[in-house]
Amino acid sequence: MTIVAIDGPAGSGKSTLARLLSRRLGYLYLDTGAMYRAIAYLALQDGVALDDEASLATLTRNAHLAFDESGHMLARDRDVSEEIRRPAVSAAVSEVSAHAHVRDILVAEQRRIAAAGDVVMEGRDIGTVVCPAAEVKIFLTAAPKVRAERRRKELVTAGEHVGSNEMLAAIEARDAFDSGRAVSPLRRADDAVELDTSPLTIAQVLDSMERIVRERLHQRR
Ligand code: DC
Repeated sequence: MTIVAIDGPAGSGKSTLARLLSRRLGYLYLDTGAMYRAIAYLALQDGVALDDEASLATLTRNAHLAFDESGHMLARDRDVSEEIRRPAVSAAVSEVSAHAHVRDILVAEQRRIAAAGDVVMEGRDIGTVVCPAAEVKIFLTAAPKVRAERRRKELVTAGEHVGSNEMLAAIEARDAFDSGRAVSPLRRADDAVELDTSPLTIAQVLDSMERIVRERLHQRR
């Protein structure tokens, strides 16, 4: 059983690349950010205050999170994969994911899914907290401007129009929050390979990631 841990900030290309890498390797793909997003979405739906840790923990325990065969996020037995990408959810998710009780429940769930087989797991704390013993760890980065532009284009494709400056400010605010929080802050694991994706195409990064995985696995034999 092999775990490939992919961490990095918003817009570093993690989701696209982790998904493509999992297909190349024939591994399961686990997007842990989608789980935090689903909880933020349910909290907004239910009108639960984002600073009410006890209520958020109860909501998390009862959320019935799961992924269907095509990787869509299910919550309370409903496909929420589109809703969780909305700007309102993006704006709420950092605060939700900063609560230790919410994290404990989701991390336990993530470890359970990871135990099922070979997996590419993507998030902020996979290499440091969720699976510190992962065989391969990759930390993806990119300049804030590049990341903001990527996110903006994704939103435009989804029909949401956001200005460049507004997007950059949102990305920088989320970076600061995710890196500065007390519980499991975004941090590169000491044994992770760091890849700056700013000047590279998706195909180039994917090739590098595959090379890193194959080298690491070869070294371990
Ligand atoms: O990768 P993403 O943008 O979908 O992640 C959404 C939020 O969830 C992000 O603000 C940080 C948080 N997150 C986290 O704290 N730990 C993870 N393993 C994954 C995401």
